[in-house]
Amino acid sequence: MSDGAAVHAGSGKVRELFGLDEDRLLLVATDRISTFDVVLPTPIPDKGRVLTGLSGFWFARTSQIVPNHLLVLRPDARSTEVRRLEMLPIECVVRGYLAGSGWKDYQRLGSTSGHELPEGLVESDRLPEPIFTPATKAAEGHDENISREAAADLVGRELLEDVERISLELYSYVSDYAATRGIMLADTKLEFGLDGAGTLVLADEAFTPDSSRFWPADSYEPGRPQPSFDKQYVRDFCEQLGWDKTPPGPELPQSVVEGTRSRYIEAFERLTAVPFAAYLDDPNTVLS
Ligand SMILES: Nc1ncnc2c1ncn2[C@@H]1O[C@H](COP(=O)(O)OP(=O)(O)OP(=O)(O)O)[C@@H](O)[C@H]1O
Ligand SMILES: [Mg+2]
Repeated sequence: MSDGAAVHAGSGKVRELFGLDEDRLLLVATDRISTFDVVLPTPIPDKGRVLTGLSGFWFARTSQIVPNHLLVLRPDARSTEVRRLEMLPIECVVRGYLAGSGWKDYQRLGSTSGHELPEGLVESDRLPEPIFTPATKAAEGHDENISREAAADLVGRELLEDVERISLELYSYVSDYAATRGIMLADTKLEFGLDGAGTLVLADEAFTPDSSRFWPADSYEPGRPQPSFDKQYVRDFCEQLGWDKTPPGPELPQSVVEGTRSRYIEAFERLTAVPFAAYLDDPNTVLS
């Protein structure tokens, strides 16, 4: 089937989806940026290419752990042909450190997604071991952390045990890899789907700055929030405006766009060791 027949199948906050045929989708990562779950009116040039390249890099390296949806990385460096899957209705989050909603849950409950945690932990602390903390996929607004029992009700106990085991294995592999590049993987969100044969397949984006909290290891200091690798300029700018974090989001000035773009590219280059220009030249560079 030619692209002319591709059918627009949906828009996420960042990606556009097109149906290619019964078995394949075209996933196009745009340059849209969201902060506090609101898409901002100003795009970050090449951001979609960074996300696509990093996902491809990790898909190529983790296919021994779990099969993934990637079929073809197109020459525009932002579009991928992927296997069309039946997506599980949960987000599979793994946390190695206490940040974001995990930290909020801990302060309120002493636990998160039913994992009882030691007393006296501070913000950004390393957890005794990485934990699996599933969340619902909210159509609108913020995802909500749920217990593993509630997640089992949504996908079935056996499947949940599989995604938990695989998610923890993926986290462990990628966090070890990132550590060798001076980057900490505080937490990450994965999405899985089932193929026609009922096989579990890793889908969506994987281990990108949008789906993960990456922290520069050299400035890590528990007891405070860590500077985010990529969105810090945007967040700082939005905070300083006093914006109430409801739509519409503010336009970003050129300096914030430039700063953010270079942070995304730096994350790409530090993690992959591939110069971003080489990726644009031949996207398949990240797959080898
Ligand atoms: N292989 C696949 N088969 C079917 N759907 C997929 C596949 N990979 C990813 N998706 C879906 O495509 C969409 C990607 O779009 P995007 O990342 O922009 O969405 P989002 O803003 O994160 O979430 P939402 O879809 O809730 O808006 C997600 O809904 C994701 O679940
Ligand atoms: Mg997404």
